[in-house]
Amino acid sequence: MKITVIGTGYVGLVSGACLAELGNIVTCLDVQSEKIAKLKEGIMPIYEPGLDSVVLRNVQAGRLFFTDSYEDAILGAELISIAVGTPSADDGSVDMQYIEAAARDIGAHITEYTVIADKSTVPVGTAEKVEAIIREVSGVQVDVISNPEFLREGHAVYDFLHPARIIIGTTADDAKDRMLQAYEHVDCPKLVMDRRSAELTKYAANSFLATKISFINEMAVLAEEVGADISDVALGIGSDPRIGKDFLKAGPGWGGSCFPKDVRAMRHLAKQKGVPLPVVNAAHELNEQARIRMAKRLEEKLGSLDQKKIAILGLAFKGNTDDTRESASIEIIKYLLNHGATVIAHDPVAVVAPNDLDGYELAHIDCPYKASEGAHAVIVATEWEQFRTIDLLKLRKSSAGDLLVDTRNLFDPARAKEAGWQYLSIGRK
Ligand code: UDX
Repeated sequence: MKITVIGTGYVGLVSGACLAELGNIVTCLDVQSEKIAKLKEGIMPIYEPGLDSVVLRNVQAGRLFFTDSYEDAILGAELISIAVGTPSADDGSVDMQYIEAAARDIGAHITEYTVIADKSTVPVGTAEKVEAIIREVSGVQVDVISNPEFLREGHAVYDFLHPARIIIGTTADDAKDRMLQAYEHVDCPKLVMDRRSAELTKYAANSFLATKISFINEMAVLAEEVGADISDVALGIGSDPRIGKDFLKAGPGWGGSCFPKDVRAMRHLAKQKGVPLPVVNAAHELNEQARIRMAKRLEEKLGSLDQKKIAILGLAFKGNTDDTRESASIEIIKYLLNHGATVIAHDPVAVVAPNDLDGYELAHIDCPYKASEGAHAVIVATEWEQFRTIDLLKLRKSSAGDLLVDTRNLFDPARAKEAGWQYLSIGRK
């Protein structure tokens, strides 16, 4: 099938490349010409393991194309997937400008019946609005459906090709048949439902996952007080298939480009509809505290952060990505800076720009040991696998102080102690 994907971010580019991998002929469009120019040279605009090889293979097979021109992109497309950004507006609602622009541009170029799939995470009721815009601009009878994605950054290619389910939100048979055809080679349940249910499913999924993480972070605080080990508790409850082992890792709170945005949108929607959301709101409140709780524990241990030099290992919002959007690391760094500390950072790939730190020029060192030289304390803030093999003795020798704050429980407390650290971690003795 001939498919066009609008937007070449984490969702759009991964979706486009993987739809080509599944045998479709795919054109990826982005209005940012420089992104398209780089993609044509085989340069990825994002760090996503395995994406470059999927893109390269399908470009070489003549199944994947890139363009910044709507004329080229829309001509002959049987299915158009909208995967543009839906960032938070200041009041927590969703900024719909990119969705609406894409709808107008699609409307200006289609000439025959086409199925349009909203892949971006969009407020409930958006598919109807997008459909009205496209029908009004083009005069063509289109069907707009909801087809939310559940890709995790760092696993996005795998998640696209091995989804737990595919949600097809439509009551139009032609549209349903075309979506089922596009995904015919994906072996998983295909859940067909109405558009609003599909749109709410996406927000409910992210809100639940965020709540699950906030729950284990809440249990971690209690575990510290009663001398329990939260990793054992997580395994203990997660072994029950009704709970499940995933998303029970205690940490500095959930960040990224989705959970915070989608929880804010869910809270905004509920407020608009006058529906109290005590569980989701509590998960949000707890997350706000979780993000700087360890920085506060460090401050207590040091007595004061003023004039102290702190090394932070990990800037990305989670391991295996270069994305620092709403990363807990940024909140931690801001707290340290606001209390008079100097911060030195190391991350395998991620970089934090000054405008994310109110203008502070964060020093980025390419080695964890160098970053820790002379530091009064070291904070581990991202669960990069390679951090697990850091030589704790060598790290201790390079730092001035003996405080190691591990917000991801990467190290064994006994080994950290042997290496001479005062070791603080989450939910453990
Ligand atoms: C999430 C959803 O998982 C995905 O389905 C949706 O499509 C997009 O949002 P992503 O934001 O890429 O994916 O990251 P995810 O792996 O879900 O982690 C989100 C945050 O939760 C990260 O900050 C991560 O560190 C944190 N997290 C995750 C925990 O603190 N503990 C966990 O056990 C899992």
